[in-house]
Amino acid sequence: MAFKSIIVEIEDHVALIRLNRPDAMNALNSALLGELGQAVREADQNEKVRCIVITGSEKAFAAGADIKEMAEKSFVDVYSDNLFGDSFTPLEQCRKPIIAAVAGYALGGGCELAMVCDFIIAADTAKFGQPEINLGVIAGLGGTQRLTRLVGKSKSMEMHLTGRFMDAEEAERAGLVSRVVPAKKLMETAMAAAQKITEKSQLSVVACKEAVNRSYETTLAEGILHERRLFQSLFATNDQSEGMAAFLEKREAQFRDR
Ligand code: HXC
Repeated sequence: MAFKSIIVEIEDHVALIRLNRPDAMNALNSALLGELGQAVREADQNEKVRCIVITGSEKAFAAGADIKEMAEKSFVDVYSDNLFGDSFTPLEQCRKPIIAAVAGYALGGGCELAMVCDFIIAADTAKFGQPEINLGVIAGLGGTQRLTRLVGKSKSMEMHLTGRFMDAEEAERAGLVSRVVPAKKLMETAMAAAQKITEKSQLSVVACKEAVNRSYETTLAEGILHERRLFQSLFATNDQSEGMAAFLEKREAQFRDR
């Protein structure tokens, strides 16, 4: 289906999803969030896709939820409609890796969107923030929880309470982003990382993502047990035999997702 607020391209097993509301700094309105969810679900189900990259424009990854769309709503409106309640569910449930490639503003829901991805590669122009406090509200798409887990309570609390923005360098230092690259290299770097992932066995990629994400949901002992069971179960696959044989034979592994 044709989308209006996003552009989806699938090439070399990577689905590139570009947020595309240039007049509104890619503000996340309900139409965009609906399309994004649908695109992620389709990519997750598409056998040709092995990794997903979400990006915005040079100016803005996304400047947050659409304030114009929210401004006139009452408590009864947002509670009855469960505003944003399911918006990120397709991303949270996606089994394939999702990389956020962030340039410019990633604010409010935009920062939360970047954080719900599996890792963030940032341009040196990136600015992250949770400025909802300036609008008389607070984060509502996971910001108070995910930012706190990523950068710790002190910095997260300061960001949420003051609404100040963090530049890319500070975001890397704080552990919010995996790395920072010059803006001109952002897409090349993100697509190269995605490409690397597409070359692995899909079985170990899915298990790997599941194990890392488990660390957010459980105790250390349970998480380590879960990891060990996944690790051991991969010995039931041909790709484990192939990967280890290829290393010993000093050749490239030919993974077949079996
Ligand atoms: C709707 C937005 C928008 C937003 C920008 N625009 N952000 N529209 N919702 N979140 C629109 C502006 O109204 C303007 O439209 C156009 O995009 C360009 O923005 P400017 O402000 O003119 O650009 P600039 O001066 O460069 O400033 C960029 C900016 C600023 C720093 C990103 O726009 C800004 O502060 N935006 C709001 C950031 C924010 O508060 N985000 C949190 C939203 S709440 P016009 O038509 O005037 O040209 C949120 C809650 C999430 O995310 C969880 C909910 C449950």
